[in-house]
Amino acid sequence: MERAEPSVIRLATPADIGGIFAIYDEEVLHGTATAQTVPFTAEEREAWFARHTPDLHPLVAAVEADGFVAGWAGLSPWSPRQAYRRSAENSVYVARSRHGRGLGRALMRELLARTLRDTPVRLVIARPTERNVASIRLHESLGFQTVGVLRHVMEKFGELQDVRILSLDLDARTP
Ligand SMILES: CC(C)(COP(=O)(O)OP(=O)(O)OC[C@H]1O[C@@H](n2cnc3c(N)ncnc32)[C@H](O)[C@@H]1OP(=O)(O)O)[C@@H](O)C(=O)NCCC(=O)NCCS
Repeated sequence: MERAEPSVIRLATPADIGGIFAIYDEEVLHGTATAQTVPFTAEEREAWFARHTPDLHPLVAAVEADGFVAGWAGLSPWSPRQAYRRSAENSVYVARSRHGRGLGRALMRELLARTLRDTPVRLVIARPTERNVASIRLHESLGFQTVGVLRHVMEKFGELQDVRILSLDLDARTP
């Protein structure tokens, strides 16, 4: 198996956008990790990046010495309505060639630490498909608990998908 270079996990910069979307678009076009089916345009990518302000919805990246983005994790709004500001949805994506090396968990730990330290967000929500065992296990290992399952809420590649909703209450979390 190819050996991954050690990566540094830090806030993402505009230079990481290409690498972030190289990973994401793999799932957009060929996977069911995201319900999105059409890749963002260059303009949409930049707008998406700009919405990730570190004081509300941080975006972190695992970057290797040569600049290769091995993975990323970020928060996005749960709802635009003001009273939901304390809640956010998380995304976490690791390059397929770097799966199973602890990067997903390290990215999530960094994201959750920054969320608690730098933002007003206290409820973090994840929505993996029911078949995404890796994501469900990863979130459970971080203390996320299942709230429920939405049956047949998503259809991709002609297949109906159930989506599990998990949440983590950062105020109730033991360090
Ligand atoms: C989910 C994902 C981010 C996990 O990243 P990763 O770096 O491979 O995961 P890690 O090596 O950090 O593993 C952390 C934990 O996740 C779980 N896990 C990871 N891969 C798993 C697999 N294939 N099967 C079962 N559990 C798995 C395990 O609990 C693991 O802990 P352990 O090694 O102590 O058992 C990665 O599989 C991925 O990018 N998938 C595609 C995108 C995606 O599904 N994102 C989530 C959308 S909701």
